[in-house]
Amino acid sequence: MEIKKAVIPVAGLGTRFLPATKSMPKEMLPIIDKPVIHHVVEEAIESGIDDIIFVTGRSKRSIEDYFDDSPELEMHLKAKNKDNMLKIVQDISSMVDIHYIRQKEPRGLGDAILTAEKHINDEPFAVLLGDDIIVNGTPCTKQLIDNFQKYGRSTIAVEEVPREKTGSYGIIQGKALDESLYVLEDIIEKPAPENAPSNIGAIGRYVFTPEILDCIKNTTTGVGNEIQLTDGIRLLNEQQKIYAYKFTGKRYDTGDKAEYVKAIIDFALANEDMQEQIKGHIRRFCI
Ligand code: G1P
Repeated sequence: MEIKKAVIPVAGLGTRFLPATKSMPKEMLPIIDKPVIHHVVEEAIESGIDDIIFVTGRSKRSIEDYFDDSPELEMHLKAKNKDNMLKIVQDISSMVDIHYIRQKEPRGLGDAILTAEKHINDEPFAVLLGDDIIVNGTPCTKQLIDNFQKYGRSTIAVEEVPREKTGSYGIIQGKALDESLYVLEDIIEKPAPENAPSNIGAIGRYVFTPEILDCIKNTTTGVGNEIQLTDGIRLLNEQQKIYAYKFTGKRYDTGDKAEYVKAIIDFALANEDMQEQIKGHIRRFCI
């Protein structure tokens, strides 16, 4: 079965980036000239998604504006004959069908995904968290979709994380089928390193069968007093096999300040127009 829908939760408050995120969504922080959320939407589209549901919250209006038409700006660019820029701006608003649903209070990732239930309409769907940018020829979400199509079961993207950081992730226990695929045995939300069943963490890309929604509904509040997606996954795992897939690609957790800066540097070094300047600048620190 094809996967055409994706839920992208963007209701988080972005406290790690205050004060910048006091009046702007963390998802709009730019990697040079393109907001993080644009990269995430591109990954979804390149994975075959054509219908995106953003779960938003208060003060996320600029995300809606970003993916909407900008008549005044377009008129201005047209009048100035800035055709390249005009095309870039117009392409953004016609990228994909986007729907917006508000999560009234920040009650957790599981709750955010549940708000999209009516739109999902009993179909399998992808979830992409808005903080991660993953760079790879085959997008990470596409890798999960390929596994879903092979086995017909939910698949979550994982990678090895430093032991001391297990408290930031859903950590899996799995039975390895090969170098990159596990059958999920358990998943624990944000365990302390001494309680973590492994150092393999869920990184914010998932493909789910629709049964995950009932499972989330049947959870009670978990870590942080929130409805946790991880607890829904644990319940789903009692009914259906779930796979954890060690994706191929370089991930930047742009919700982390140092990782955000690294992402900007790497994107600048990959950009023909500025790589020499940036290399020269970095070299000064290497002698
Ligand atoms: C969420 C999930 C967690 C996952 C993480 C990936 O946590 O609850 O299981 O490992 O995303 O980024 P958050 O980072 O929203 O606290």
